[in-house]
Amino acid sequence: MKVAVTLFALLVAAPCAAQDVAAGEVLYKQKCAACHQPTGKGVKGAFPALAGDALVLGDPALLSRMLLVGKGGMPTFKRLMTDQQIADVLSFVRSSFGNSAAPVLPDVVAAMRATLPASGGPTGPLGN
Ligand code: HEC
Repeated sequence: MKVAVTLFALLVAAPCAAQDVAAGEVLYKQKCAACHQPTGKGVKGAFPALAGDALVLGDPALLSRMLLVGKGGMPTFKRLMTDQQIADVLSFVRSSFGNSAAPVLPDVVAAMRATLPASGGPTGPLGN
């Protein structure tokens, strides 16, 4: 009986500890699509395509870092999104627009966040 209860608890708890692609889709529309476009194809010369992008499909830790730190015209989402939200949106991006890469787990984002300086970073609505 105890084993059954434990198993049940694990099954119920699992989705919370993992990524939520549906939530990621909502976040993408809110926070990324204005630049990278609803199609994930970006805008030539301004916003890179996320479809078929090597960084998007590559190491989840480095991809998380891109969102946490930002780069050039790409805002930092360090203070704007939780580890869970970053994992969700990246898992959505990695499984959409023709992409097919493994989800990003919140733990990976948290580990990367922990290596970054705690202070600093823009706080505006778009992080810039
Ligand atoms: C204000 C516009 C803007 C928004 C909003 C934005 N980005 Fe970006 N993004 C950029 C720009 C510009 C670059 C290119 C940065 C560079 O290389 O200098 C970029 C680069 C990237 C890259 C790296 C592509 C590569 O291979 O170099 C990823 C991944 C990415 N963005 C994901 C996202 C996600 C996910 C979101 C939403 C949470 C998002 N971006 C929101 C403008 C934006």
